[in-house]
Amino acid sequence: MLKKQKIAIVGATGAVGEELLNVLEELDFPVESILALASAKSVGNEIAFKNKIYKIKELNENVFKENPVAIAFFSAGGSVSEKYAQFAVKSGAVVIDNTSHFRMKEEVPLVVPECNPEDIKLWKNTGIIANPNCSTIQMVHILKPLDEVFNLKRVDVCTYQAASGAGKKGMQELVEAMQSFFAFKLDEFKASTFPYTLALNVIPHIDVFNENGYTKEELKMVNETQKILHKKLEISATCVRVPVLRSHSEAMTLHFEKEVNAEEAREILKNAPSVVVIDEPKNKQYPMPLFTSDTNETYVGRIRRDLTHKNILHLWCVADQIRVGAATNAVRIAKKWLELKK
Ligand code: A2P
Repeated sequence: MLKKQKIAIVGATGAVGEELLNVLEELDFPVESILALASAKSVGNEIAFKNKIYKIKELNENVFKENPVAIAFFSAGGSVSEKYAQFAVKSGAVVIDNTSHFRMKEEVPLVVPECNPEDIKLWKNTGIIANPNCSTIQMVHILKPLDEVFNLKRVDVCTYQAASGAGKKGMQELVEAMQSFFAFKLDEFKASTFPYTLALNVIPHIDVFNENGYTKEELKMVNETQKILHKKLEISATCVRVPVLRSHSEAMTLHFEKEVNAEEAREILKNAPSVVVIDEPKNKQYPMPLFTSDTNETYVGRIRRDLTHKNILHLWCVADQIRVGAATNAVRIAKKWLELKK
């Protein structure tokens, strides 16, 4: 049995922070106590964990020294991690960071426990383990087991990303836009979180555009996947925001060195950790975001070989962005870290 640990959640009032509490409980993580941190405006608010109430404290430079913890989950944005992760590390905690701030730093491990658990030991370099981008996590759940058998060469992926990727304010903005539509006022709606009104729309633009025509979100999928799989794969991504509240979907075209066979790929994925195959198109069985939210698995379906090339496979995968793409992966990292430390 793993020893109970003191845990900090930075961003405890946010979408990922709240889900971290649910996942810690659901996955039966050995928690002794919670240090719930957010900005000054949330001080005094309360969160509940396993029938215990914790008051939100303000994140500041001293809070970890005054309330030492073993594990600090950071999910309050990159600039917050940049400024405060060091204080958690100095106080003796391992930081599991949900933001993009540390992900591509060479000395910081970027971990999806189903794919590269061996990298967790590198936490000693800096005291920090980075949690990848949400779209990357569900994608590598699928890529890794197929790569092991067929030797993956290239990935072309198009994402259909939910409003939850922009946190609570993203989900709120989508709901408000839909309300405006039903009040016949959608044309008056002013988007602020997304570049345009998301209701009844799809927006091929997530995060800022780079000079090469790709967005930062798309380049995250490229660079992070290469780092996790330890492989210079060719990857091209098109990331699109869709009017879905939770769960990202991805259509992938996978180019392998070896010939592939859809039936064999289905079997491999059925045995892959944290992956569920739903692939009976004749019975209208395929993964969809409405039915995968609030779960901890990556769902895959529509698995089929290319009509022309025997080494190309097409498939469709869906996972809850706040869970699989953030909170659940972070808790799985923490669990592996604890096992390693034992
Ligand atoms: P707060 O609610 O006090 O603003 P989301 O991703 O759902 O938008 O949530 C962001 C989380 O990050 C919230 O818990 C928010 O707390 C927290 N946060 C944002 N800025 C800071 C900051 N400067 N210091 C501490 N927590 C912050």
